[in-house]
Amino acid sequence: MDMIQNSGYLIAAFLFVLGIKKLSSPATARQGNLISALGMLIAVIVTLIHHNIISYQELMIGLGIGTVIGVISARLIAMTAMPEMVALLNGCGGGSSLLLALAAYIESPFLTLTSAIISIISILIGGVTFTGSIVAWGKLSGTFGGKPLRFIGSQFINIICLIVIVWCGYMFVSDPMANAMMVYGVIAGSLVLGIMSVMSIGGGDMPVVIALLNSYSGIAASGAGFVIGNVLLIVAGLLVGASGLILTNIMCKAMNRSLTNVLFGGFGVIKSSDKDKEQGEVNPISAQDAYLVLEAARSVVIVPGYGMAVAQAQHATHELAEFLEENGCEVKYAIHPVAGRMPGHMNVLLAEASVPYEQLHEMDDINPDLGMVDVCVVIGANDVVNPDAIEDEASPIYGMPIIEVTKARSVFVLKRSMNPGFAGIQNPLFFKENTRMLFGDAKESLHHIVTEFKE
Ligand code: TAP
Repeated sequence: MDMIQNSGYLIAAFLFVLGIKKLSSPATARQGNLISALGMLIAVIVTLIHHNIISYQELMIGLGIGTVIGVISARLIAMTAMPEMVALLNGCGGGSSLLLALAAYIESPFLTLTSAIISIISILIGGVTFTGSIVAWGKLSGTFGGKPLRFIGSQFINIICLIVIVWCGYMFVSDPMANAMMVYGVIAGSLVLGIMSVMSIGGGDMPVVIALLNSYSGIAASGAGFVIGNVLLIVAGLLVGASGLILTNIMCKAMNRSLTNVLFGGFGVIKSSDKDKEQGEVNPISAQDAYLVLEAARSVVIVPGYGMAVAQAQHATHELAEFLEENGCEVKYAIHPVAGRMPGHMNVLLAEASVPYEQLHEMDDINPDLGMVDVCVVIGANDVVNPDAIEDEASPIYGMPIIEVTKARSVFVLKRSMNPGFAGIQNPLFFKENTRMLFGDAKESLHHIVTEFKE
């Protein structure tokens, strides 16, 4: 039996690694997802045939309830609410690692020193991940408000939590049998610490926090795997832990911020000078006039952003690109690594609209060519094209790499108003001489231009 299980686990681990590898490119990402899911199916099946399982009825009930909730929520969730869903799933991962380590201890309380230390670490990280992820979900969905919550005494609560965790953890590790109740002190401390640490971060930074919590949930799972002696859980947990950390690092780099700044800084707080800065006049354009310019253009670069996701304008974007190409124009898409609200957000949407992968270009590859482009069409992007990031040292986004659309001969910006984007700051691009603002919902504006092409 052990032979079957170990072989199954080996295959599953191989499929997880292969799946993650394939997730690194939009062209193979779907395949990667399926391969990883197959690995998980094999892992679940070989675990279920293990002799330690005592009651299959309870397992089946849990599996049934979980499947129904999973399928319904995956079908109902809007693409723009995906980061919230990921936050909740992370929370579930952390919570289950905590429960697993606790259940393993209750079932067999004779722990070695190493097992006791790993149990406590798993419970601690699992607890922080559980409540932290729920707060992250609340902040992203607006349920808890997006502002960082810092009040007098919050540091005091944090310190008390840390003291409780360290003291109870130490007592538990020194004698797990005699100090069994101490484990509940660690659980309580970690749950409160999770709430406090995420509450003090602004809603806008939640995607980075979620990537970090994702990594935590992997580390907690890996610890739980060690506690229950499940090799695959250790491997899978470490894969999630490592990839979550890499993702957090990529996101911080693309936003030109350190992790410390995300966790303890205040991004999105608008300085009065930014709010009041006199920028000049904007030049609006109608869909008809935009069509006339696009009709004559030989090269167009489309820059999608969060607004394209909100408007669900990916299909209309592709339709416009097809008309442009039929008209002899070269069309490319410029993809900023943090456009939208989650990693790969734009790639996923454009893939859904069947935009060919070859037309997607990363920021660093396309920036040098933008000087030769006739029109850059910015669809619901704002911060990722804000020239202040390279021109204004006082700007909160100074240093963030951007798609340098101002180099193009003309820039059309499709958005509904002059409202700022995620960073909460004004964008001087809208006031540049070669920029024209096409106000309105991105999907409707694109439909109007496409209608002109059709006519
Ligand atoms: P944003 O700077 O957030 O700007 C989005 C713009 O879309 C808004 O200015 C909004 O203007 C417009 N918009 C909203 N709904 C629209 C609609 N229906 N039709 C047309 N326009 C619409 O987006 P971005 O340029 O993609 O930048 C992403 C930001 O998120 C960056 O600051 C990045 O650092 C941050 N961030 C990203 C991630 C990841 S991983 N992607 C993670 C954390 C943070 P109106 O309201 O005027 O329409």
